[in-house]
Amino acid sequence: MQHNEEKTCWNCPAALLKGNVDFRACGQSIAVIQNKISEEGLLIECTRRPELGMFEPSITFEQCPEWRETQYGYLLKEMRVMILGIDGYLGWTLALKIAKLGCRVSGIDNYLRRNAVAEKGSKSVVPIADMETRLKTAKEQHGVDIDFRELDLLDRDELAEYLREVQPEAVVHYGEIPSAPYSMVDAEHAIRTQHNNTLGTLGVLFLIKEICPEANILKLGTMGEYGTPLTGRPIFEGLFPADAVLTWRGQEWSMGGELTPRDPASFYHVSKVQDTFNVYEACKYWWLRSYDVMQGVIFGVHTEEVAAHPDLRTRLDVDEWFGTVINRFVAQAVLGIPLTVYGSGEQIRGYLALEDAMECMVRLLSSPPEPGQYDVVNQLSQLYKVKELAEIVARVGSRRHGLTVRIQRVENPRIEADEHPFLVVAKKLRENLGYQPKTPLEVEIDRMFTLLLQPRVRGRLESVRDTVFPKTWWSGEHKETMTLEVYEPGTHVMAGYSPDLVVSDHDGDE
Ligand SMILES: NC(=O)c1ccc[n+]([C@@H]2O[C@H](COP(=O)([O-])OP(=O)(O)OC[C@H]3O[C@@H](n4cnc5c(N)ncnc54)[C@H](O)[C@@H]3O)[C@@H](O)[C@H]2O)c1
Repeated sequence: MQHNEEKTCWNCPAALLKGNVDFRACGQSIAVIQNKISEEGLLIECTRRPELGMFEPSITFEQCPEWRETQYGYLLKEMRVMILGIDGYLGWTLALKIAKLGCRVSGIDNYLRRNAVAEKGSKSVVPIADMETRLKTAKEQHGVDIDFRELDLLDRDELAEYLREVQPEAVVHYGEIPSAPYSMVDAEHAIRTQHNNTLGTLGVLFLIKEICPEANILKLGTMGEYGTPLTGRPIFEGLFPADAVLTWRGQEWSMGGELTPRDPASFYHVSKVQDTFNVYEACKYWWLRSYDVMQGVIFGVHTEEVAAHPDLRTRLDVDEWFGTVINRFVAQAVLGIPLTVYGSGEQIRGYLALEDAMECMVRLLSSPPEPGQYDVVNQLSQLYKVKELAEIVARVGSRRHGLTVRIQRVENPRIEADEHPFLVVAKKLRENLGYQPKTPLEVEIDRMFTLLLQPRVRGRLESVRDTVFPKTWWSGEHKETMTLEVYEPGTHVMAGYSPDLVVSDHDGDE
């Protein structure tokens, strides 16, 4: 059985809501609307099958000839998907994956990421082609046509024109500045991050409302929005579950359905929290539908589609602004720099391989929320301590690639708890959408070593060596980061809290 076979036109972005309920102007809660629907009925028109006229939205994905079965569930045939930020690490990878699955992919980018990495004096250590070459190679290797427009999503007139032309049935919004350290450099970088991300997203929401209000909006948030609750309170999937209760002054108050507290960890994370509220409100005011994807830290370089040709590779950054931790550790191991663990290294975070992240996104595309539904998924496959990751990278580097790898604890330039409980609920992707993690951490780390040790890539890595060591302090000071201790892998025991990941009701804590 496919996870989405019983969904109906009600979830389908090809259905135009018609008839006697004026959804988008009513400003009512879903419960009130649903009452109206059951009393007065609801009719739709299908943009793909106009011959059906007006009808009740009851055809299931399994029954509808416009939805076809794939290994990730039913997928709308030739679904028109627009990717904002298509030139990025995730955007390009997803574009190839869904184009190969038969989606009609379009995308925009203003190359902000390429320029910001250059500002740091760095570059993608895996060479990446320019967009023209990427598109040409995608056609040659995979037989897919991807439509690209170079534009800044803050330019609403141009974006409006493109949205009108494409009429997307799904919009994947990756087009933001994704770096916490970048946002903490100084006022200019903090303001740029919040301006680009928050105001960019707000503008996009208005355009979607005007031009393609039925589109499934996949908005990228981050697990970093939640922070690390020191009480050990579970990190639910964005919203409190129905049975959550606050007891205060001897009385019980239901928390069910309310947004869970956010405790962002940098000005970048604040921009994501602000986005969360804006997306939530847009769903409430205008009956847009969205998944807010609280994504863990992504690692790796591999999907079948990007590995098919050197000109299809996605970027991989290792500098202190844009490199994510596992990617940076592998680079440091290749460069012979002891792996830089900040502070105690007991920080726990959620992680996900690139390949798995792409599968999750396809599943979310295949299963649009209902009109007006703001939904949240915690998208990660495993929790690790930073110190533990350093051990795993060191092990793979030495056993499989003959490298001598050491680990260094350095002063923590961030303001964060070094030791904290971490109880994360991430059930929806697995229980409702059929996702099972496929890429073991060691396998992906091994692939990264193999790629980074290629002479051409290694040469590029050497040329950005100076950008790897952390220098950006959350305190705003401009100073070197001191090494506290250098040690051999396997000599330090894990202490403190254990990571706790709940992926199913059967895990039994709720
Ligand atoms: N990579 C991760 O580990 C990770 C983890 C959690 C969340 N995320 C989120 O996922 C999204 C994508 O991340 P990524 O790693 O692919 O980052 P990325 O920087 O590689 O991709 C973002 C792309 O958006 C483009 N962009 C930014 N602002 C734009 C604008 N105003 N107009 C047009 N294009 C613009 C950039 O040029 C870049 O190509 C981001 O929102 C990020 O915050 C990433």
